[in-house]
Amino acid sequence: PFFWAVIPAAGIGSRMRADRPKQYLPLGGRTILEHTLDCFLGHPQLKGLAVSVAQDDPYWPRLPCADDGRILRAAGGRERADSVFNALQLLAARGADAADWVLVHDAARPNLARVDLDRLLAELADDPLGGLLAVPARDTLKRADADGRVRETVDRSTIWQAYTPQMFRLGALRQALDDALRTGVAITDESSAMEWAGYAPRLIEGRADNLKITRPEDLLWLQQAWVRKR
Ligand code: C5P
Repeated sequence: PFFWAVIPAAGIGSRMRADRPKQYLPLGGRTILEHTLDCFLGHPQLKGLAVSVAQDDPYWPRLPCADDGRILRAAGGRERADSVFNALQLLAARGADAADWVLVHDAARPNLARVDLDRLLAELADDPLGGLLAVPARDTLKRADADGRVRETVDRSTIWQAYTPQMFRLGALRQALDDALRTGVAITDESSAMEWAGYAPRLIEGRADNLKITRPEDLLWLQQAWVRKR
């Protein structure tokens, strides 16, 4: 089956403490965002792709891919959920159907492996709802109080880290995000909007190196891994 892709890229990435949003930092001679887009643009099942970009973003128009006819530019929003919702609206206006698959992937995850993308598509192809790439918790987990003292050890056998892409039917995801945004409930990924709507998305185990660049050391690690790969 074919799919649509949505890349929310309208965050400022304050935890990176960099001079620009993290998706525009360099990795192997290009920007992180260009690598992220490449994970999708070469895929034979891709029907179309929307990137959510902040209105006053000076970096996006300078990228060569800004002129790529396959890429639609959606408006960035206040929160990530707003940015994704705007992109879904744009895809729907361009003919995407409510039953179509849409894969939402963080702009700051440039190391998505093709095997992971293909596994997600294959495992969920016949699923009525959809799901997400995720990684089982590796470390022992502690719940702490406000003073930073351990109150308990959490059973890690049922804990997963939510990664992206997250793959859902466009209509159901749009409805869930719309409801969540109206209600003001905290939404940090697409799955949490779907959970809040009463659904149980499926977890598909992915590679741990599909990490989201959040802090400066993440980018250093990835730059070194990139050099080794090439
Ligand atoms: O800040 P965080 O790493 O959780 O952001 C995840 C993704 O959501 C990033 O790709 C970021 O650019 C995007 N985002 C967005 N619009 C916002 C906030 C974040 O598109 N208002």
